[in-house]
Amino acid sequence: MSQITPKARDGFTSKFGVLAATLGSAVGLGNIWKFPYLTGENGGAGFLLVYVIATLLVGLPVMISEIMLGRKGKSDAVTTLSKLAPKGQPWWLIAAMGVLAAFLIMSFYSEVAAWVFAYIFKAVDGSILSTDPKVTGAAFGALISDPLQSLLWQWLVLALMGGILLMGVSKGIEAVTKKLMPVLFILLLVIGIRSLTLPGASQGLHFLFSPDFSKITAGVVLTAMGLAFFKLSIGMGCMMTYGSYFRDDQNIPLTTFRVMCADLFVSMLAGIAIFPAVFAFGFEPTAGPSLLFITIPAVFASIPFGHLFMVLFFVLSAIAATGAMLSILEVPVSVVSERFGMSRPKATLLNLLVLGAVGSTCALSNSSLADVHIAGKTFFDLFDFVSSNVLMPLGGIFLCLFVGWVWGFERMKEALTNGGELELAILKPLFFIIRYVSPLLILIVMLKGLGLF
Ligand code: PFF
Repeated sequence: MSQITPKARDGFTSKFGVLAATLGSAVGLGNIWKFPYLTGENGGAGFLLVYVIATLLVGLPVMISEIMLGRKGKSDAVTTLSKLAPKGQPWWLIAAMGVLAAFLIMSFYSEVAAWVFAYIFKAVDGSILSTDPKVTGAAFGALISDPLQSLLWQWLVLALMGGILLMGVSKGIEAVTKKLMPVLFILLLVIGIRSLTLPGASQGLHFLFSPDFSKITAGVVLTAMGLAFFKLSIGMGCMMTYGSYFRDDQNIPLTTFRVMCADLFVSMLAGIAIFPAVFAFGFEPTAGPSLLFITIPAVFASIPFGHLFMVLFFVLSAIAATGAMLSILEVPVSVVSERFGMSRPKATLLNLLVLGAVGSTCALSNSSLADVHIAGKTFFDLFDFVSSNVLMPLGGIFLCLFVGWVWGFERMKEALTNGGELELAILKPLFFIIRYVSPLLILIVMLKGLGLF
């Protein structure tokens, strides 16, 4: 007689797969687009230092907590928090806020990704290959101010992500990131070495590694902390969702630490690939969000074999964006499919349709909706600001409070040592940081940075 067993939950199958998918979520346009332009805008090495401190004191503890809760709950983020919280306490609201953050992030992220995908083709046909930033600026302006092109590229990107997600967690996300992540590292190393061997590269390195603290204000510290949240994909249920796909024998603190180091390394490499070249050719590092799309093509056009390297660079950026977008989308897709019992294909389609609508506000932020401002910001800038500087840090505070004050040390120890199998010397200091240091630090930086006290 055949036995009816419930269908096993999909998850990551190999240890390398866990690492590749988690790293695939962390590494993204945050490293290649956001990190360089924010570092350039905020004075270089001083900003970098604050960012690294935020990553260690806030990013790492929140990320470990989130993955740990996810693996314990083995469900989507909303269900996990409802399961793990004492009866009647609405901690699941953290995850609900995370779903909102996922939509906001995906709205602008898919648009930047759309530009990256479009730039692969422009790089190939040579239409953005000019040493004059005015020419590359005009090419970028033409792309983002064209509503139809902006929308079409965004929907194309969304459809591509939908296709991968439909294949599931192990056959889709894990299989794709396992193939793409090594390619990304190799490409980035090649471009980094190319940039370092340019004459005048040292000025760029100086900018990246010699701090000037005069530019550090409360707002800059909030931006650096927001970047740490954005970079590690934390404070919004993404790592909780991925944690639920982790293997039971995975060493969570070690994996998290490796992902954090590799992610920092990629940001450094991106900085090393970009700033020496920017300085070597006399461009400004403070170009802002357009740095990647206006300055970089001009820089590549000035380098021998620049055409080839530019194509490689945008392919690399597209790869990085893909791993990250899969993880952002997985948050609402898993909630809708597991919590509300919809089939995975239907849940994916539903989320993509909603995103196509919400995201179009960001796609049109430089054209039809350029004059619509809320709190002085376009939809694009507003969604970026609110997600990184408000929702994710807020999620981080509540996650720390949950682990530090509700869940408690014993359960954390049980979960992180895999039921006593692992020896972990860091448990006590880690718990202290999660209970006191991280939430307080996030709160102070947030309130100061938002000008609330
Ligand atoms: N960490 C990604 C990046 O740096 O590009 C962005 C991101 C991914 C943010 C997943 C949030 C998230 F849930």
